[in-house]
Order: sequence, then C-alpha cells, then structure tokens
Amino acid sequence: MSKLVISDLPDSTYKGKRVFVRVDFNVPIRDGKISEDYRIRRVIPTIDYLVERGARVILGSHLGRPKGIVMPELSLKPIADRLSELLGKSVKFTGKVTGTEVKESIESLADGEVMLLENLRFHKEETDNDPKFAKTLSSYADIYVNDAFGTSHRKHASTYGMAANFELRVAGFLVSRELKFLTRLRENPDRPFIVIVGGGKIKDKIHALQRLIDKADKVLLGGGVAYTFLKAKGIRIGNSIVEDDLVDWAKDALTNYGKKIFLPVDHVVSNSLEKRKNCMVVDGSIPDDLQGFDIGPKTAAKYNHQIKGTGSIFWSGPMGVFEVGDFSAGTTQVARTVALATWRGATTVVGGGETIASIRKAEVLDSEITHISTGGGALLEFLGGDELPGISILNDREERISLAAN
Ligand code: 3PG
Repeated sequence: MSKLVISDLPDSTYKGKRVFVRVDFNVPIRDGKISEDYRIRRVIPTIDYLVERGARVILGSHLGRPKGIVMPELSLKPIADRLSELLGKSVKFTGKVTGTEVKESIESLADGEVMLLENLRFHKEETDNDPKFAKTLSSYADIYVNDAFGTSHRKHASTYGMAANFELRVAGFLVSRELKFLTRLRENPDRPFIVIVGGGKIKDKIHALQRLIDKADKVLLGGGVAYTFLKAKGIRIGNSIVEDDLVDWAKDALTNYGKKIFLPVDHVVSNSLEKRKNCMVVDGSIPDDLQGFDIGPKTAAKYNHQIKGTGSIFWSGPMGVFEVGDFSAGTTQVARTVALATWRGATTVVGGGETIASIRKAEVLDSEITHISTGGGALLEFLGGDELPGISILNDREERISLAAN
C-alpha cells in the first residue's frame, strides 16, 4: 500500500506547526569536511516545501555509530553549516538532542525556520528504541515526516518508536521517490531488466541478490562477488577475495539461472593491492600467486554490449578496487555505459555508497542516472522483499484519504 506523502495534505496543515523530519545525514566527513553531500542535497525539496508552508522544521539524524558516546568528530555541526549554504538560510544547530536548551530553542522557532538536532546516536536510547527517549523526541513536534530512506530498515527511536506517537506520520519527497523507483524494480521492472552487481561481498546482499537474480533477464557480476561464482564454476581465481561458505550457494544459482548470469572473462591482476607489482591483464583463470582487482577490458566490452538502452538497469557495487587508478577502468566503463543507457531511454537505478562514489569518479552526472538511491543496507533489504519498519509505520495513503473524505 502506498504511503501518505507531505504533498497529499492541504498546505494549511503545516502553518505554524512543528514538523520533525527524520533525515539520513550519515555522510562521509574527513577532517570536518563533507566529502559527499548527496544525501543532504536530496532532502532540500522536502525542507523547502515545509518552510514555504510556514512549518517550524526540526531535523534529526544520526552520523556513524557512536554507540551512545558523545564523539566530537561525529557532531552534526559541519552538516548544519553545509545545510545553511544549500538552503540559503541559517539553520539553527542545538549541539544537543535533549534538555532545557533544546526545548527552549524549539519553542523559539518562528514559522519557516529550520533547526538541526545533534547526532541522535549520542544517546544509546536511540538505537535501543527506548520508549522514554522516543516520547521526548515526539514531544518536540506536531507532525512526523520520514525522509531518511537509508535508515528506514532500523527500528530505532527516531525511525520507528517516536513515529507511532503521531497521528500524522508521513513520507517526505526523498522517501516517496525511493519507494516509487524501487517498488517498480522489485515488483514489476521494465524489460529487459539488467542487474549489475559488484562490490566486496555476497554475504551483505545475498537476500537481495537472490531475488534480483530471479527477477532479472540478465545479471552481470564483477568485484569480489564474481570470484565466488568463478570458483563455483571451477575456474582458478588465484588469491582473489572469495567467500568459501557461499560457493555452494553460487553453484546452485549457476545451475538454476546459469544462462542469464554473466561472469568476467578477463581480469586486471596484481600480486598485492599495496605494492602492485606484476599488474597486468589475464584471460580466463588467474594464476595462483596473483589476485584479481578489476574486470578486464574484454569483460567490460562484453558487459557494455549487454547493457541496453531500453527496459531497466539496476547497478550496485563497483567492478573492482576503483579507488586505485590501476583498477578503476572496469568500473568507470560500466558507469559510463549505464549513463549512456539512460540517454538511450532505459530507466537506470544505482545504489550504495561505493557505487555513488564510483560514478562521481567516472564523472557521470546525477542527471545521467534516472534514480540514485540514498540507501545502502535499506536498499538491499527493500529489494530483498523485506518490509522496512520506518516505512511501514507511516500512514497508508488510501486509508488517510478516505478518512479525510468521511
Ligand atoms: C547507512 O549509511 O546505510 C545508513 O545511514 C544506516 O546506517 P547504519 O547502518 O549505521 O544504521
């Protein structure tokens, strides 16, 4: 059932109301500098919409996993500054999550003002979904908005516990867009449906991969994921990364879906990632003393040929260690081919932090991908068929609209 979105409610709903927006500002920060702000930029339309309708906006997010300890390097202060720049208006930063000062700041908010709370995970009660903590958070607002798709798989105080305390608990534009594209991919993708999966491990994504292999017309594998499949096929993979406990699972997948699973036919190899001696391309199998770090040029060309400009394409996980120049070509080529497929008319969906970083490195623009998901774990759980607690707790659209009509 689809969820109620902020724009489903009359504009007058928001005037003078305190609106708590759970956002996912879990972005990479190095030396106090944000290196990738996609997750912040994606929330701007929701904040603008609420501000324009006179809401008093209170934003809450986590950053990293501080486990209830106040860690200055995980403060949201740099994010408040970046947000002020993006919004073109000052965002109040509380420096705390609870306490009298926070309450006073909220009470002093004027219509259209925006404030950001400190990292919610500085309180252990957040990840414990502590009811008292959830109640404190819900006392800050009149309306609850979830615009944190990337955290919607967590049953935490700010994503689940507090939401239950609101009559109005609705999706923001980011969540609504994620659900639109990802539900389509999960339930009824445009054909041909091509899935490209790379990255380090199958284990993290086995549930999603199982379902995607079943749904897809073609599955192109790269990265560490591919070596487990190559081993399952009896191909020598040298010292390449492999998940031995999943070789049997990969064998079954190849038996059941072998015709649609494409594996690398050549590899960029070296004896080690650090020293990078003997860096070369090998065909077929990988000699015992070498390790594969990228798909080779023949594989990239083969994958290029399979990626069509029609139907839909889902890509998650780089084809190799793309951060290292010697091993970035395969991922770059796939990124550019996916971008070209968008121009040719395919619906392209890309997800996962590393994949986003790799499309940036390949100089692919956001506009060259139909939908870049902000989700990591949440994306895989959703595509694997799971219900996300942060989504299921929101008002159902049909139910709410029929209530309003009566
Ligand atoms: C993410 O980056 O995937 C989300 O922000 C969730 O973070 P978590 O895995 O620490 O809950």
